[in-house]
Amino acid sequence: MSKREHRITVTTLMGMKANQQKIAVLTAYDFSFARQLDQAGVDVVLVGDSLGMVVQGRETTIPVTMDDMVYHSRLVERGLERALLVADLPFMSYATSEQALTNAGRLMKEGGAQMVKLEGGADQVETVTLLVSRNIPVCAHLGLQPQSVHRLGGYHVQGRQQEAAQQMVADAAALESAGASMLVLECVPAVLAAEISAALEIPVIGIGAGIECDGQVLVLYDLLGITSGAVPRFVKNFLQDTTSVSTALTAYVDAVKSRHFPTIEHSFL
Ligand code: KIV
Repeated sequence: MSKREHRITVTTLMGMKANQQKIAVLTAYDFSFARQLDQAGVDVVLVGDSLGMVVQGRETTIPVTMDDMVYHSRLVERGLERALLVADLPFMSYATSEQALTNAGRLMKEGGAQMVKLEGGADQVETVTLLVSRNIPVCAHLGLQPQSVHRLGGYHVQGRQQEAAQQMVADAAALESAGASMLVLECVPAVLAAEISAALEIPVIGIGAGIECDGQVLVLYDLLGITSGAVPRFVKNFLQDTTSVSTALTAYVDAVKSRHFPTIEHSFL
């Protein structure tokens, strides 16, 4: 079997959702960790713009550049044989649809990404439609959108009010109709995330979004317990019961797939 024959694709992920198989997603930012994730059975590796905070030591993801994203995607791509590679479009790299097309093209051509992720709701429908029409798979991102931290006034659970919840349901449907292949829901009440996951055909990946999503994502350094500052409710340190990174990664994949992570204690009401 060639190196690429067993690679996870968009079709694989759709099949996993249809068959109710949970999807394990983690972030990575370099070759060595990417290889460990791949060997542990992580299905999707995200080169998140969280790298601005956990790799570069910045306070937010806002300063991350396209060159940063392309550089880290290229490193991660070299470590993957099986997992699907998603890379974030950073702040202001998709302010217009044309910018999004140019920069998503860079992530795929130079960074080796197989899908790009962008934050936003119905306002991103035109951009998602354009990218998909040019054969660029898109992962949307609703709920807490870290690139909007200054407008939101901090990192808070989103969708608690009825109007906001209804807007999120409508945004998710609009993004799916525009052709998005996957959706990340961050810091969303569990009941709302469950409703959105059930309504969509595309996989919904949660982080602080309860136990009913089709898959889970964590920031790698949170899983390893090496992120500084307050630990969010949705984080679990998988390294604390072992001394081996590879065992911790395998434990995460097993916990997601067997529905032992997340639990109610990692969720918001
Ligand atoms: O940038 C990132 O790592 C992310 C995940 C937290 C979903 O967007």
